[in-house]
Amino acid sequence: MNTQRNLLAGLLLFVAIPFISAQEKAQMVVNADLGTETINRHIYGQFSEHLGRCIYDGLWVGEDSKIPNTNGVRNDIIAALKHINIPNLRWPGGCFADEYHWRDGIGPRDQRPKMVNTHWGGVTEDNSFGTHEFLNLCEELGTEPYICGNMGSGSVEEMSKWVEYITFDGESPMAKLRKQNGREKPWKVQFWGVGNENWGCGGNMSPEGYAENYRRYATYCRNYGTNHLFKIAGGPNVDDYNWTSTLMKNIPGHMMNGISLHYYTFADSWTNKGNATGFDDNEYFRTIENAAHIEELIERHTAIMDQYDPEKRLGLIIDEWGAWYNVEPGTNPGFLYQQNTLRDALLAGVSLNIFHKHCDRVKMANIAQMVNVLQAMILTEGEKMILTPTYHVFDMYKVHQDATLLPIEVKCSNYERLGRSLPAVSASASKDKNGAIHISLVNIDPANDIEISCAVRGTNAANVSNAQIITGENVRACNTFDKPENVRLANFKGAKYKNGELTMKIPAKSLVTIELK
Ligand code: AHR
Repeated sequence: MNTQRNLLAGLLLFVAIPFISAQEKAQMVVNADLGTETINRHIYGQFSEHLGRCIYDGLWVGEDSKIPNTNGVRNDIIAALKHINIPNLRWPGGCFADEYHWRDGIGPRDQRPKMVNTHWGGVTEDNSFGTHEFLNLCEELGTEPYICGNMGSGSVEEMSKWVEYITFDGESPMAKLRKQNGREKPWKVQFWGVGNENWGCGGNMSPEGYAENYRRYATYCRNYGTNHLFKIAGGPNVDDYNWTSTLMKNIPGHMMNGISLHYYTFADSWTNKGNATGFDDNEYFRTIENAAHIEELIERHTAIMDQYDPEKRLGLIIDEWGAWYNVEPGTNPGFLYQQNTLRDALLAGVSLNIFHKHCDRVKMANIAQMVNVLQAMILTEGEKMILTPTYHVFDMYKVHQDATLLPIEVKCSNYERLGRSLPAVSASASKDKNGAIHISLVNIDPANDIEISCAVRGTNAANVSNAQIITGENVRACNTFDKPENVRLANFKGAKYKNGELTMKIPAKSLVTIELK
């Protein structure tokens, strides 16, 4: 897309014009025939790190567990994850990736060396979940693996041989080793991260030093046969724009496919993260405000990338995002276990709407993390498992995967607090391959319902064919092992469509997705 068209699209898309009015009414326009960009399904990626109870005691229970499992991974989790169509899964970290040595995680499990997980609780890692277990899980889930290689404490040779071990189909020392370990055919791996947070836990490098190293490592991560790597450079910490411009300047475009960006939402700040439950309305407001800040980061990193890559060939890969609060009282501080409330569902909806809006540059994202860590989809306790409010958003929003983004305009009231304001409605619309239109709306206002009238132009759609809602008693509502269905996906009856006019009342603190056919 050329720059001029981009500018025009930027003006047309998602213009949120707050009314100076106390009336909770909103108007929208959806242009169903004007979409040009695709919402890459990889925006719905997940992240599973060797951290706390994400892998062990989360996904992986081992083949001998009395919890029903398939090759050691819990069946209930596999079924739940399949249901939300996970497009890719990032592994083994995070900070853990830069101290992980893949050769310790292959071969007979009882002979694998142990290590200390220095980043996350100082626990002993027995390496029982390694390359084969991860890639077999991806096959079981029908998801693409995204492997993050070790630049911080590894070597070029180690990373290069990992690629060969996994993807080479001919005769070679690494292919031979893979076959000895029981896997005849290579796996397909597209997404390959060259280090993680190399400005910090991944080696405390300067951007110049990282770029130099990236070129060395990436050179030897080869494409074998039909396996073509999509190489992702370790990107900036939040608003470190110098990191992005140094990488764009010093790494030739043909050597990478994307730059990562990590952004976590705190109720307040890194040093005052706030609690996952029991927060007050001011904290709620600040959390959503902090989450929405990612839009500015995307725009500013994109502006730098545009200078070097105006065709937008490279992706901004937001491979760690989500809410990070204080750990649940009584749990290991290094395990990052937190509850998940309706606030997190609203935060997820707002964030995904922003990613959609910028899908010409944001080609992939990974929420942190999938099970039992940070803003998780799933929490487990022994044999029990619950789906979080955030899981239900990923379920509701899966209709947007690989659909065409539709230009929309929103005029709405503001949600005001602390002398500041946010547009009360965050929205996104897309058209899928079968022509169905999906409009997702998030009403972040915790107290006021909003009546929306929406003109849907450029379509012959006749009916509301499906409509779903996620809401709860208040923004603190969550699912527990005793009440697992407190916040869930339900049918929404409050939408009417006639002669191109969609009218609906979106309840306070809710997410709604309407399908028109
Ligand atoms: O997701 C938890 C940690 O946050 C990751 O290991 C690291 O990359 C980030 O700082």
